[in-house]
Amino acid sequence: MTTGATELEASSTGPAGALPVVLIHGFPFDRRMWEPQVRALKGRFRLLTYDVRGLGRSRVGDGQYTMELYVDDLMSVLDGMGVDRAVGCGLSMGGYILLRALEREPERFLGAVLCDTRSQPDTDEGRIERARTIRRLKEEGHDPFLKGFVPRVLAPATLRDQPDVVERVEAMARDTSIRGMCGALLAMAARTDTTPSLGRIRVPVLVLVGERDALTDPEVAREMADRIPEADLRVLPGAGHLSNLERPEGFNRALGQFLERVEAR
Ligand code: MLT
Repeated sequence: MTTGATELEASSTGPAGALPVVLIHGFPFDRRMWEPQVRALKGRFRLLTYDVRGLGRSRVGDGQYTMELYVDDLMSVLDGMGVDRAVGCGLSMGGYILLRALEREPERFLGAVLCDTRSQPDTDEGRIERARTIRRLKEEGHDPFLKGFVPRVLAPATLRDQPDVVERVEAMARDTSIRGMCGALLAMAARTDTTPSLGRIRVPVLVLVGERDALTDPEVAREMADRIPEADLRVLPGAGHLSNLERPEGFNRALGQFLERVEAR
């Protein structure tokens, strides 16, 4: 389905009356990133997936995005699907969007799953690195970027033993427009610090992180979970930054158990 007002590609899978769960993908991917979760959990929950503006099949437009706009889009996906309150599940950049949405629109959430993400904004060094990445993407296109990016987001064992995952990740990123990617990098570089509001989150939270996540390591995840009143932390053995694709069984088990707990409240 395309939600008319915002031209975002979105899908809803699973029983209409089931607990709604909105899955927010990471950079520079699209909603296909959640295929292993949709396949495993669609019998029990209503899974909403969408392509973040500028990525996947959603409209690229002028390429000028902010976290605020991404949160507006998330709200319009929920509204477009007729969903008042949902569990949010965001990975990495999806987690940045979800953290800001929890801060800004807390009444829309029944629970949250924060995967391989952090509440802190970029450091100055990180912002300068984003600017370099933007320049390189514009000058050289996808492939040189992917050469550096893929080994950072996948664990060494995944790179060695799961060529299908490597291929899938590269294919999704190659499918994404350079302008959309640059816009996402700018939005991430300008995002605010959501750490001060972690203590005000009033819904159950699951923090999931790959044991070998080199971008947002388990210590970062632990610190974030410690600040949230009702949070559990699960570290997924052997997984890197894209834990849902690298270790789908463990990820789905943890996610499914958490959603059952939210549903039972
Ligand atoms: C992501 O995985 O969504 C991004 O790599 C996160 C980031 O660059 O901060």
